[in-house]
Amino acid sequence: MNLIILGAPGSGKGTQAVKLTKRFGVPAISTGDIFRANIAGGTELGKKAKAYMDRGELVPDEIVIAIALDRIDECDCKDGFLLDGFPRTTEQADALERHLAVSGRSLDKVILIDVPADELVRRIAGRRTCADCGASYHIPDILPAKDGVCDVCGGELKRRSDDNEATVRNRIEVYNANTAPLVDYYGAKTLLARIAGTTGPDNVFADTVKALDK
Ligand code: AP5
Ligand code: MG
Repeated sequence: MNLIILGAPGSGKGTQAVKLTKRFGVPAISTGDIFRANIAGGTELGKKAKAYMDRGELVPDEIVIAIALDRIDECDCKDGFLLDGFPRTTEQADALERHLAVSGRSLDKVILIDVPADELVRRIAGRRTCADCGASYHIPDILPAKDGVCDVCGGELKRRSDDNEATVRNRIEVYNANTAPLVDYYGAKTLLARIAGTTGPDNVFADTVKALDK
């Protein structure tokens, strides 16, 4: 199963990716997480990406495309993958389609998680992320069992450095300008399933599974 989860910053892509990976056994690939791991590791890629991420802008297509396409060629993706945060431009989407076609693969579904802008800002303001495994929580909506500690791996919960209000507003504007056109792009290919993202993580997951079963 080759899937994309599309949605604005804070719409719940990462939250659903964790659940979908458990259910379907395909790896979740987040380009944002790949960049954050490179920033933490002090790599050249991390240094380049950080400047864009701190401003809430997109990392240039040529950098992201090379990384994402290499990743889906790894052997754990041979029976499927779940892309979280890629593609974000029509150039990235075209490159993905061409690349999959070369190896006889194609996309099965694009899940769009639909959340209004005010709710996105509220979610990102309250988000806490595990520094070790990347699991997401929300203060006060989705609390860990122990304050500041990840339920999944016991790691420390932190705020992401790009989760400040100014950067979030810009990330949403960048999404509307560059990524929202992918809704029509995948709609025209009859790949899109639109899911209401405001009903709580478990309901969003149930609706997503239903859409994938169709
Ligand atoms: P990335 O890391 O992908 O960030 P993003 O798209 O801004 O999305 P987020 O991770 O902020 O939100 P999410 O949708 O995963 O929501 P989450 O599940 O955490 O990208 C970061 C940066 O990297 C970009 O700005 C860009 O610079 C660069 N980048 C990455 N990919 C790129 C690409 N392809 N091209 C160019 N540049 C790229 O949930 C959010 C909060 O809400 C959490 O607190 C969660 O607990 C809570 N929540 C989740 N679901 C629900 C629900 N149903 N109800 C209530 N609360 C919920
Ligand atoms: Mg995410």
